[in-house]
Formats: sequence, C-alpha cells, structure tokens
Amino acid sequence: MINLNVNGISHDVDVDVDPATPLLYVLRNDLKLNGAKFGCGLGQCGACTVMVDGKPVFSCLTPAMLVEGREVKTVEGLGTIENPGPMQKAFIEEQAAQCGYCIAGMMMRAQALLEAKPDAGDADIRQALEPNLCRCGTHMRILRAVSRARDLMKSKSAGLAPAAAAGRA
Ligand code: FES
Repeated sequence: MINLNVNGISHDVDVDVDPATPLLYVLRNDLKLNGAKFGCGLGQCGACTVMVDGKPVFSCLTPAMLVEGREVKTVEGLGTIENPGPMQKAFIEEQAAQCGYCIAGMMMRAQALLEAKPDAGDADIRQALEPNLCRCGTHMRILRAVSRARDLMKSKSAGLAPAAAAGRA
C-alpha cells in the first residue's frame, strides 16, 4: 500500500503486486484519472506527462512508489469542464487539439513551465515542449495556446483583461 497525493487529494493505493508499477498505470487504472495517456512507455512521446512537485515527469517511467509523499498534479487538477483553468481554456480557445491524444501531456509540461517562469517567451515555450510530440502536426496552435495561457494567467494574477496583460490593449 502506498499513499499518493494527487491533485490535492490523498489516496491509499494497493500496489503490493509490483512496487515498480508506473505512476501512469496507478493514475489511470486505480485512480481512474485518464487524462494522462500511454503513448510509447519509453519516455519518448510525452503523452503521459504529469507534474510532480511542480516539475514535469514521464509518468510511464516513474515508479508510483517514488512519488509517495510528493505532490502529483494531472490535467484533471487544472480545472473542470464547468470551470476550466487558464491552460485548458487557452487550448480550447485556440482549438489546439486535433486527435487530442498528446494534449494532456502538452498542457502539463506547459503548466510546469509557466508556474516556474510566468513570463516565458516563445523560445522558452518551444524549448520546454521539445520532449512532447504531436503526430497530427498542430504544433503552431499548441504554441499559440500556451502563449494565450501565459497571458490569461498573468491577467488573472494582475486582475486585468488578457489583452491588456499581453500589452495588446
Ligand atoms: Fe510516457 Fe510516451 S508514454 S513518454
């Protein structure tokens, strides 16, 4: 049995069968948090990306037992359908998903970037998203979505309209 803190909620999870069970499997199979996806299982696609203590990790390569006592955040922790967070809102507004398989991982990597660097520029965003692949080729929309999320987050913290925070008012 291990205890995981996911999206601010404590869960006791029975992983006695195999202590090396990847975090991705526990999230999807035990906690029914299906946002993070299995793509390659090798740390090569980023579809499984979640945040651990604010940093992006490949949950397919991270044993669940290693994140006990740490803060795990998944795409479900960014907001709800009724009340999407800035990152989710920005991806919807930019219509950044085509098949959508990579999107949760993209959002979590981008979220980690913007939490660490709220003023991230285009080059920072491109560099941060490097480990995450999109096979549909919506990269330009994804980049626009992350820029929009940055502006939404900045405007939220400053209490401004997004255009004003982006200097486009
Ligand atoms: Fe984890 Fe591809 S499924 S990096």
